[in-house]
Amino acid sequence: MAKRIIAKKGDDSLKKNCREVTVFDDKLWTLLDDMYETMQEASGVGLAAPQVSVLRRVVVIDVGDEHGKIELVNPVVVSMKGKQHELEGCLSVPDLWGYVERPAKVKVKAQDRYGKPIEIEGTELLAVALCHEIDHLNGILFVDKADKLMTREQMEQMRE
Ligand code: CO
Repeated sequence: MAKRIIAKKGDDSLKKNCREVTVFDDKLWTLLDDMYETMQEASGVGLAAPQVSVLRRVVVIDVGDEHGKIELVNPVVVSMKGKQHELEGCLSVPDLWGYVERPAKVKVKAQDRYGKPIEIEGTELLAVALCHEIDHLNGILFVDKADKLMTREQMEQMRE
């Protein structure tokens, strides 16, 4: 495994529509392993392949709940329910946080690293992470959707 470089806002790879994965080989497994390591080292809860400049529909998530490590290949949101409005950040936008409206509950269909169909349901932070990471695969950043963006300073002031 190896840590990869995280693309930052302004990088072209973050604006692209990513391609579907059709080959489930060791190159994909290395990508998934590297993405998980990169995400953990950066203390993130999710990472999408375009954030490491790979334009494929691949996502890793670990929000620290009972699901543990989640690997999603070709994920698609198949249903959404309710609403939540929480503060989000992104490893590709290290200096900004903002409130984004997301569904309270989402169901996602995807494939695992071997190409086997899987389904996952998320609420709370997992629902946010699923939506946030799938947005990345379509070239969308949370700052494009956030209704109030804050710098680190503004955030710290708010928390005091
Ligand atoms: Co992000």
